Amino acid sequence: MSQRLAVHEPVLRRLLAGLYGEHAHFDAWLGELMASLEALHSARPAELRALDEQRAAQPDWFLSQRMLGYCAYVQNFGGDLNGVAARIPYLQEMGVSYLHLLPFLRARAGENDGGFAVSSFDDVEPALGTNADLDALTTQLRAAGISLCSDFILNHVADDHAWALAAKAGDAAARAMFLVYPDREMPDRYERTLGQVFPQVAPGNFVQVDAMGGWVWSTFYPYQWDLNYANPAVFAEMAVALLRLANRGIEVFRLDSTAFLWKREGTNSMNQPEAHQILQALRAIVDIVAPGVLLKAEAIVPTCELPAYLGSDEARECHIAYHSSLMAAGWLALSEQSTSAMREVIRNTPALPQAATWLSYVRCHDDIGWNVLRAEAAAGGHDANARLARAARFYTGAEDSYAAGASFQSSDPNAAHGSNGMAASLVGLQTARSDEEREQAMRRMLLLHGLALSFGALPVLYMGDELAMENDYSYLHRPQHAMDSRWLQRPRFDDERWQHRSEGCMYQSLQSLLAARRRHEALAANAPRTLLDDAPDGMLALARGERFLALMNFSGQPQSYALQGRWTDCLDGRILDGAATLAPYAMQWLERGAAA
Ligand code: GLC
Repeated sequence: MSQRLAVHEPVLRRLLAGLYGEHAHFDAWLGELMASLEALHSARPAELRALDEQRAAQPDWFLSQRMLGYCAYVQNFGGDLNGVAARIPYLQEMGVSYLHLLPFLRARAGENDGGFAVSSFDDVEPALGTNADLDALTTQLRAAGISLCSDFILNHVADDHAWALAAKAGDAAARAMFLVYPDREMPDRYERTLGQVFPQVAPGNFVQVDAMGGWVWSTFYPYQWDLNYANPAVFAEMAVALLRLANRGIEVFRLDSTAFLWKREGTNSMNQPEAHQILQALRAIVDIVAPGVLLKAEAIVPTCELPAYLGSDEARECHIAYHSSLMAAGWLALSEQSTSAMREVIRNTPALPQAATWLSYVRCHDDIGWNVLRAEAAAGGHDANARLARAARFYTGAEDSYAAGASFQSSDPNAAHGSNGMAASLVGLQTARSDEEREQAMRRMLLLHGLALSFGALPVLYMGDELAMENDYSYLHRPQHAMDSRWLQRPRFDDERWQHRSEGCMYQSLQSLLAARRRHEALAANAPRTLLDDAPDGMLALARGERFLALMNFSGQPQSYALQGRWTDCLDGRILDGAATLAPYAMQWLERGAAA
């Protein structure tokens, strides 16, 4: 560790002095933090230290085209952690090397936002298993070449976390972990410029709590209390909590809601410079104690705000960040049968620092948030609101669309917030009545996956999409969930479909794509990407290096693209000379020259 300390400790000290240097006892606090890091490093198991060394020597290990992610809720995928372990062979069959299990730490009793209201960072949720089960799972996954990714919900804790309970009981130090205001004066001032994440189910950003004698900042649900990162104790507690989990073998942390960590009056309190300094300080800590660990930013923010979460070669931040604009643009393109906004997104996507990458995906447990696309949807003088609201309506099935989704958090049909639904339901598989409709829906599903797999990113499949699982409407019968249509896309794993997966067209076609991706180094996350502007509006053409071309037809009409020279279709081996003509919603991966 001493070599790493020499490199990263000065960075850490500078960042922390910038954030907390003005506090009384700063030096003593920093001394204690450094001692905790030392102790956590000493406690790090030998096997993990070996992994640290290996990855520190090859810091771009996660950029390979052989990396593939899979994301699932523990309870839906395996029932509990042991059930997840039993599915490892299935993950291996698909070539998965990274498994993101949605929150599995002890969650608030009662409603808890699908586990995103954490009441202990040190214990597994009893309904999902024990800490020993988690240790066993990380060990088994590692042996299978799969890194476990866990959410680390660092913006807030549940209102029954020990800190919240102590604060309610009058403990001043615990109260200082939160942002509490005695009356509405400050909340009202902040509210003037704050947005709303859940305007329908959880309006406003503050909750009145009698036991706290005032208003507590809660960006999300009222039982999720934002942490006060202006308090150095919060930073230190969270940093060591993360490292304790890392010592259990968690290799990737999905840093939840990173955009919200720092509040500033007169702003929307998102993407503040201090939020980035906090993330950079966490990165320095990981670089010192556990360099085998990756940090992944969940910041669902406009494209122009995204790159900062990956830092720069000089100021390292997270290793991975969700490219939510690319994801949303894929769905927008399908609904509009035009790639114009997506091309804007790609143009606005800069080259990344070394050993950093985007995370690409088609669906996840959250909504497709349209607001991240405002700038791109406005390009060329368009009315962004009208355009995004149209997409949101499209995915509810309005205007004869094939989709069967729901709008999220918006009762106003002319406003766009988000759209929910499983991918298969959104692309039309659920409503398809003929073989032709089914075939087209299947193509749309593969098209979006083809984009995620060929863009140059770490692609993550969402549980059930590989089996074309459809919406789950059971949430409507659960009063605590009925208002939150994100539950549409949180079904239980369908064992029946899984048993018959070899007959499943989606599963088989996706496996062919995955296999082709693994074969082509041009599809590695860090291999060069060029947007080809000579494709028709309905088509996206991406070159990966000089020898690989991905063509994607987002329109319901055939589209052609003129080719220079001879190319081979990577999926069916056909030779193309002169032009590629793609059927409605089809995609093609081409390799220059004739296959050997
Ligand atoms: C993230 C999660 C989302 C959750 C929110 C609050 O955005 O993805 O599901 O509701 O954070 O924790």
